[in-house]
Amino acid sequence: MKILRLYIRKCGVFKNTLIDFTRNNQHQNILCLAGVNGSGKTTIMELIFNIFNLLNPNLSLQNISFDRLKSNILARTDFAQLDISIDGKILSLVLGDSSNIQADIEHPELQGFIIEDEIKTMISHFENAVVKTPEDEERSAVINIKVSGIRESDRFSTRRIEKRNTDIFNSLLNSIDKSFYDKNTVQNDNGGLPFIYFFNAHDREILDIRYASIPKEQQEYQIAHRYHPKSYDLKKTLVYYDYAYQEKFKDIKDWVNKYIFIGKYIDKIDRPNFNVVIKTTDGREHGLELLSSGEESLLIIAIQLYLRASANSVFLIDEIDQSLHPEFQEKVIKLLFQLQKDKGCQIIVSSHSEIVWDFFKERGLIDLTEMVL
Ligand SMILES: Nc1ncnc2c1ncn2[C@@H]1O[C@H](COP(=O)(O)OP(=O)(O)OP(=O)(O)O)[C@@H](O)[C@H]1O
Ligand SMILES: [Mg+2]
Repeated sequence: MKILRLYIRKCGVFKNTLIDFTRNNQHQNILCLAGVNGSGKTTIMELIFNIFNLLNPNLSLQNISFDRLKSNILARTDFAQLDISIDGKILSLVLGDSSNIQADIEHPELQGFIIEDEIKTMISHFENAVVKTPEDEERSAVINIKVSGIRESDRFSTRRIEKRNTDIFNSLLNSIDKSFYDKNTVQNDNGGLPFIYFFNAHDREILDIRYASIPKEQQEYQIAHRYHPKSYDLKKTLVYYDYAYQEKFKDIKDWVNKYIFIGKYIDKIDRPNFNVVIKTTDGREHGLELLSSGEESLLIIAIQLYLRASANSVFLIDEIDQSLHPEFQEKVIKLLFQLQKDKGCQIIVSSHSEIVWDFFKERGLIDLTEMVL
């Protein structure tokens, strides 16, 4: 699976813009979004992530993210179309009025559409009725508004979804449906099914999540997944792999030690204390939690990608250079290129750093500055 294009009408800074991730009509495996502050890099990633989530057969108001201050991006977008290539065909996920659709004229038989319009007003209505309603207004008024919001959430599962020529994706869509019911089929790489994984710019840290025992590291299939330090414990993952899959743990350790650190390495798991021992090359040692913020960020990205990447995965990494020294910026980009080559995933990053841009200069650099300003 590869992202090909995103066509946007009226969303944030974009008025009527085509973001083309292809080159000579071919998908690209690794890309970088560049552009001044406010040129729309995060907007593009959020749109890709949220529109991709429309493939979730169990999508409900519970698995859409809401924020009291900022309305959901789907509700703030007039129209968007995300074209994805799957097995040589194009699946277009469309948000908004179908009269704006961009169709492939040459091969209409190879393009299918899933079109959602009603969802925008439903999300908007739910936000106004439930998410943003202030608590201190007159009680009866608040209750009435909230009740209407709850009614909206009931209607959500019967919202109108138009499908055109999606028969060509029947086997894929059936496998996705099935995986939501049959949890045992899914392994770390999501059982080969398409998925998207998003690293926000500001949430790449290691938190010590307290647990009484180490739960089995088995992931349910998620079509769109966002890294959050409160829901993912890196230490737990490493301890688990050391216990359950020693070969795999050795692979991860070698990979991290080769690509990530300078002057230190992961030595071993201190099993009695559930700890990851980091050793410096001059012989001192400490726990995972004492790493610097740049090292944490790198480690999280490297391990998540290493464990999950497959030909059907897309990774979005906002502000890849965040808290990274130039030497580490080079390291992370080299790591991404290597990983893409080994596993065949697609990686889209954004960056403010010329060091990062240089790696993408010849191909795969999308500069938004002139596109929108
Ligand atoms: N309704 C709107 N109309 C016009 N511009 C908007 C609207 N909503 C948001 N914007 C603009 O969109 C920009 C936010 O875009 P975004 O967060 O994608 O930028 P970015 O490229 O990620 O920037 P940074 O590098 O600072 O993270 C802001 O500059 C904001 O002013
Ligand atoms: Mg941004």
